[in-house]
Amino acid sequence: MEKLIIEGGYRLKGTVAVSGAKNAALPIMAATLLTDDTCIIKNVPALRDIDTMVKILQALDVKAERNGQNFIIRGTCSRVKAPYELVNTMRASVCVLGPLLAKKKVAEVSFPGGCVIGPRPIDLHLKGLEMLGADIKIKSGYILAKADKLTGTKIYLGGHFGSSVLATANTMMAATLAEGVTVIENAACEPEIVDLANFLISMGAKIAGQSTPTIRIKGVKKLHGTTHNVIPDRVEAGTYMLSGAITKGDVFVKNARAEHLMALIDKLRECRVELYERKDGISIVGKKGKIKPTTVTTLPYPGFPTDMQAQMMSFLCLADGISVITEKIYTERFIHVSELSRMGARIFLEGPNAIVNGVKKLSGAEVMASDLRASAALVLAGLVASGKTSIHRIYHLDRGYENLDRKLSGVGARIWREKE
Ligand code: EPZ
Repeated sequence: MEKLIIEGGYRLKGTVAVSGAKNAALPIMAATLLTDDTCIIKNVPALRDIDTMVKILQALDVKAERNGQNFIIRGTCSRVKAPYELVNTMRASVCVLGPLLAKKKVAEVSFPGGCVIGPRPIDLHLKGLEMLGADIKIKSGYILAKADKLTGTKIYLGGHFGSSVLATANTMMAATLAEGVTVIENAACEPEIVDLANFLISMGAKIAGQSTPTIRIKGVKKLHGTTHNVIPDRVEAGTYMLSGAITKGDVFVKNARAEHLMALIDKLRECRVELYERKDGISIVGKKGKIKPTTVTTLPYPGFPTDMQAQMMSFLCLADGISVITEKIYTERFIHVSELSRMGARIFLEGPNAIVNGVKKLSGAEVMASDLRASAALVLAGLVASGKTSIHRIYHLDRGYENLDRKLSGVGARIWREKE
C-alpha cells in the first residue's frame, strides 16, 4: 500500500490538463453491450474504476483492450452475470443491468452493497426497468431481471432528493432497444448523461431531450458500432481549479468546460477568486486577499455537485468567517470532516449541514482517505497546510484521479508517494 506525502505552502503555477470523465466513461463502456459491433471509446482515463469495468465486460465475455487513452471494445456478450466480487468494488457496475436486459433479455447482476458516502439504494433503477416490462427478483444477493420484450412507456424517475444519474442511464440504455417510445420524466441532466445519450445516438439510438428533465427515446431494432470521445472530467477540473484557488496560485486548467462548472465558478467568484473562462480551459489567478465565506448546497446538476463538496469544504476552511455547506444528495457524506479537523479545521456538523468556521491556517498531519472525493479534499488541504501531510489509503484517489500527484507536481506542488 502507498501513502501520499505533501509538503504544503507552495503556490501552484502552470498548466494542468484534465483527463476524460470517469463518470461518463463508465456507463458508456457498459452501453457497448447493446451492440455486437466494435466500439472505439477515446479519452478514457487510466483509473482503477475503469479497470473494474473492463473486468466486468470480460466477465460477460466481451473484449476490452486499451490503446493509450482509447478503448476498443468488441464481441458479443455471451454471459449475463456480473459477479459480486466486481460489483462489490464499484457501484457503477450496476450500469450493465439495463444494457444486458435490453440486449440479452436477461441479466444477473450482484446487488450493490453499502458505501462509505451513505446509503445508495437502487430502487429507481429497478423501477425504470420494471416499467419497461422487466420481471425483477432479488435472489441470493443478485438482481435477476428478465423480459421477453421491453415496451416504451412514460416513466417518472424521481425520489425525495430529485433525479438519479445512473438510474436515468440504466433506463435510457434499456429503452433504446424497447418497442415504441419511452419518456423519462425527472431525468438527470448531468453532462455525463448527455455524453451517454450522444454516444447512444452515434450507435443509431433515437434520443431527444438529453440535458433536460424529459428525455424521449424511440426504440430501434438494433444499434451499431461507433467511435466516441469522452467529455473532460468536470470534478477533476473543479479539483484543480480549487488547487489554484487554495494556494493563491496561477493555474490554467486545460480542457475544463465552463458550461459544466457553472455552480462552482459562481461560488468561487462569490468567494473573490479571480477566474477566467478561456476557449480551451479555465484560468485561476490567485490573489493575496482573504477568501469570502459563503453557503453551498449540493443539488442535482446544474446545482453544486456533491462530488465537489469535500474539496470546497477544504477551501472554505480558510475563509474569513463562517460558511455553511448543506449536503442534499448524500446527507452523510462528511467523513472528511474529522480528518480536516486533524489539520486544524473548525467544522461542526448538524445533520446534513456543516458549519465551517474559517481558520487562518491549516497544519500538516497524518490523515486517512475514506473515499475518492474526501481524498481529494485532503490533498487540497495538504497543499496549503504548513509542514508535511501524509495521506493514507490513497487507493481511493487512484479510483478517480488520473496521475493526480504527477499533475500537481507539474504545477509546482511538493507531492510524492511512499510505501506504507
Ligand atoms: C452518480 O452516482 C455518480 N457516480 C456519483 O459519483 C455522484 O456522487 C452521484 O451520481 C450524484 O451526482 C457515477 O456516475 C458512476 P444518484 P449515482 O443515483 O448515479 C438517491 C464519485 O465520487 N437514489 O444520482 O449512483 C441516492 O441515494 C461518485 O465519482 C435513490 O434513492 O447517484 C442519492 O441520494 C460517487 N434511489 C440520490 O438519489 C435510487 O435508485 C442521487 O444519487 C438511486 C439513487
